[in-house]
Amino acid sequence: MSETSTPNNIRAVEIADSIYWVGYTDTKSGMQCNPYLIIDGEEAVVVDGGSRPDFPSVMMKILSTGIAPSSIRALIYQHYDPDLCGSVPHFEDIIDRQDLQIIAAKSDHMFIHHYSVSSPVISLEELNHQFRFSSGRTLRFIPTPYAHNAGSYVTFDERSGVLFTSDLFGSYGVEMNLFMELPPECKDCKDFDRCPNEKPLCPIPDILRFHRKIFPSERAVRFALEQMAKVPFSLIAPQHGRIIREAGDIEIVWRRLATLSGIGIDGLLGDRCEFNLDCMISRRR
Ligand SMILES: [Fe+2]
Ligand SMILES: [Fe+2]
Repeated sequence: MSETSTPNNIRAVEIADSIYWVGYTDTKSGMQCNPYLIIDGEEAVVVDGGSRPDFPSVMMKILSTGIAPSSIRALIYQHYDPDLCGSVPHFEDIIDRQDLQIIAAKSDHMFIHHYSVSSPVISLEELNHQFRFSSGRTLRFIPTPYAHNAGSYVTFDERSGVLFTSDLFGSYGVEMNLFMELPPECKDCKDFDRCPNEKPLCPIPDILRFHRKIFPSERAVRFALEQMAKVPFSLIAPQHGRIIREAGDIEIVWRRLATLSGIGIDGLLGDRCEFNLDCMISRRR
């Protein structure tokens, strides 16, 4: 399987040592969804497992790696949206382990419980913000609150340097390669809002549109980037869009997001800071 194949592969794609993309294209939403499988010896975990209707596609790719579903010890959910969590009961059924863990931030538990049928939902605090395989390999959980849910977090695999960022660094769009390869002319682009190079070459306008629409505020995105910068990662694996592995490309996208304006409510209200809170009283007159 070529590394630059489009994401419509029927097999898993190894993106780093023993880490596999097991995603699918959701044509209804016009997005690429990227669940990941981490294999460590006889054990595995799944990160942001995917939606209910696409479970067969994800599971087929997991099986293509040669592991048995019962090897999966934990399901990591970095926030509670249905495009990540819709298939929880299907995973529980096919994994069929009494000790299967569902890992999610405490503030997300009230939502995750609606998906989970049989497994305990474990908080990051209960795990001391890390998951350890039997070999000692460690995944670290880094909270990125309100980016884009209250309990959102990212997951860092210390061994491979992969940072799983969930919706952060995500993107709209389905016709794309799995890995980002920024064209040279895009590296110096000054205005991605009026990109002459956009589809299908330059993915950055879709990334910026996605963050403006999905994230609540500029501060939430910047705080998340600040937390992520403390981690020595070498590859960004988002839940939508393209995987970013070139250091230069990571820096370019990083800078664009760090300076992006018009995110969420900030885009809706602009500089407005005064609000007419007397309007309820005036309604009585
Ligand atoms: Fe989301
Ligand atoms: Fe998402």
